[in-house]
Amino acid sequence: MANSARQKMDEVNDPLDAAPRRERSTNSWWRFQRSSDPAEWSLLDERLEFIAAFIRNPLAVGSLWPSSPSLARAILSNCDLRSARLVVELGPGTGAFTRVILERLGDQTEFFVVELDTSCTGQLRRRFPGLHVVNDSAENLARHVGKTGQKADFIISGLPWANMNPDLQDRILDSIIDSLADRGAFTAFGYWNSSILPSSKRFRARLESRFESVRRSRVIWKNFPPAIFYSCRHPRLH
Ligand SMILES: C[S@@+](CC[C@H](N)C(=O)[O-])C[C@H]1O[C@@H](n2cnc3c(N)ncnc32)[C@H](O)[C@@H]1O
Repeated sequence: MANSARQKMDEVNDPLDAAPRRERSTNSWWRFQRSSDPAEWSLLDERLEFIAAFIRNPLAVGSLWPSSPSLARAILSNCDLRSARLVVELGPGTGAFTRVILERLGDQTEFFVVELDTSCTGQLRRRFPGLHVVNDSAENLARHVGKTGQKADFIISGLPWANMNPDLQDRILDSIIDSLADRGAFTAFGYWNSSILPSSKRFRARLESRFESVRRSRVIWKNFPPAIFYSCRHPRLH
């Protein structure tokens, strides 16, 4: 990685002092090529790293395998990121959605990610130079969005909702509602096979109590495990 790029990355290491921003790297990291440059990672590296994160903290990571590009594209197909002013991703893990989001942002769009796992945040900073990575819990999202002086147009979640207790679900969802613009959209995915779990049903009920519009997607079979996602609009005041 060039020294200047590393300097820029270091400048945003303190999330509370840094204004969210996005810089498109000239490195072609999205081509998934193995390289001597640590900013460019192979798909295998990403998967091994994801499995390591799962072994460290299975409940918080919630899956053995990162999401597929098909799921990322399906989730983002209804999001016009190009004209958005602020986009936030929660629980990026190793960057399965981040990569696709970065390809779709407009020149003026600010973007940051909020990830709890410190190993994942380190890898994300190396993999996506210039990306604004906040190492914190999504419960504190409103504080980070507040520092930008605007509300988010899109909040895209990779969080493992089915593994969370009800209080944590509530705290994160309340922070999302506080952070989202009136015309903004929130998207959350889950695994199709766990849709019947009480925690998943509870999560859907919580979404419906906070958004006037909650739409469930078709099943995305090209993901392991197969996934569904919710597109939520028109946040209710709370
Ligand atoms: C199922 S993985 C999804 C990773 C990636 N979005 C994907 O789809 O491949 C869930 C991620 O959410 C992160 N996470 C879990 N709880 C969190 C919280 N309260 N705040 C921020 N990130 C969290 C985990 O560390 C993990 O990286």
